[in-house]
Amino acid sequence: MARRILLIIGGGIAAYKSLDLIRRLRERGHGVRVVLTRAAQEFITPLAAGALSNDRVFTDLFDLDDEREIGHIRLSRETDLIVVAPATADLLAKLATGQAGDLATAVLLASDKPVLVAPAMNPRMWQHPATRRNLRQLAADGVHFIGPNSGEMAERGEAGPGRMSEPTEIAEAVDRLLAGGTARALAEGPLSGRHVLVTSGPTHEPIDPVRYIANRSSGKQGHAIATAAAALGARVTLVSGPVALPDPEGVTTIAVTTAAQMLEAVRAALPADVAVFAAAVADWRVAMAPDQKLKKAQGTAPAPLVLTENPDILKTIAVPGPKRPALVIGFAAETENVVAHAQKKRKDKGADWIVANDVSPATGTFGGDRNTVHLVTAEEAENWPTQSKDEVARRIVLRAAHFLAANQTDV
Ligand code: PMT
Repeated sequence: MARRILLIIGGGIAAYKSLDLIRRLRERGHGVRVVLTRAAQEFITPLAAGALSNDRVFTDLFDLDDEREIGHIRLSRETDLIVVAPATADLLAKLATGQAGDLATAVLLASDKPVLVAPAMNPRMWQHPATRRNLRQLAADGVHFIGPNSGEMAERGEAGPGRMSEPTEIAEAVDRLLAGGTARALAEGPLSGRHVLVTSGPTHEPIDPVRYIANRSSGKQGHAIATAAAALGARVTLVSGPVALPDPEGVTTIAVTTAAQMLEAVRAALPADVAVFAAAVADWRVAMAPDQKLKKAQGTAPAPLVLTENPDILKTIAVPGPKRPALVIGFAAETENVVAHAQKKRKDKGADWIVANDVSPATGTFGGDRNTVHLVTAEEAENWPTQSKDEVARRIVLRAAHFLAANQTDV
């Protein structure tokens, strides 16, 4: 349903992306009214924002015309949702402390509407204790967050969390919020500011256009990990094979079918701080799947299926290099000598940790709600009790958060 969005654009290099955000919001049928801070006008002009929003742009608290015709109180009330993008460290600090010295902050203070902020700043500013404090305050005040993403900054040689979310991600969060959902996937938590990439489900490898090779993975374990990471504040990309589960809330889900597509989607989603490979990827595919359905010919033997090896996604991503996630976690689905096989797999595939599970039919691991796993690291193998897949997921992502905190201090 078309709604009225008040977009407050703060002063950062990401302001140029907010011009595209105006377009994305209008494409979804929303009316967009824009407030530009003074600093934002160093990056984009009111003319450009006005042309895209097809409305006048508001810049000054003390503009008498505005106060007579449509003051900051009306601006803050005649809207369904306020979006602050980019939300600079300065703007977040002012919002957290209730300042109202300019039009943007006065509108925010005067409003009782939901507020969605898309932070954008240098990684050091994002990690600063003062910013963390302000974020905690804002989360407690009910402010919703989207992002930031991790990646390279405009400043040469700077990388980490602090890139504003992409306009389509923000527009999706707007629609989720307007539909009564939550956009607070990135609320303060031990993984906030981190990007967690998860693979889940089986892959389907075509035999012909109507038949395929698959396995019994339901995606329950992988999806639970994605949900648990989002609950700890991470930005999460879930690359999933065909499953019958709903997309987890607050997670960007990319649906794929084959191992080759999964690898491509995983590569495109990098960089990530943590990658968890829970998908049951088919080891082989049919070498030359025909375009037409294979026909059953009377009295002749079926055509042999010639298989070829699929790319190993985990092994490919775990290769040392600038794009390797700081923590690479694989799974091992075994039916015997679970820990020993997992230890070998960890080394062979270059993973930091392997979560080993017994998938013998009697365990009900494939498709079931519970799992008995062993966490295999370079140092040891921990035996975890049988527990729900949600609990396994929570423990894995908490361990990942501790690992990041201990090994990279404060990305
Ligand atoms: O989906 P559920 O029904 O909830 O079941 C959960 C599960 C049993 C599927 C899950 O817990 C699990 O064990 N996932 C990994 C299954 C698997 O393919 O294991 P593997 O031992 O064959 O592979 C080892 C690792 O390499 C895995 O992390 C796998 O994702 C990865 N791999 C394997 C082959 C390949 N071509 N590319 C890969 O990335």
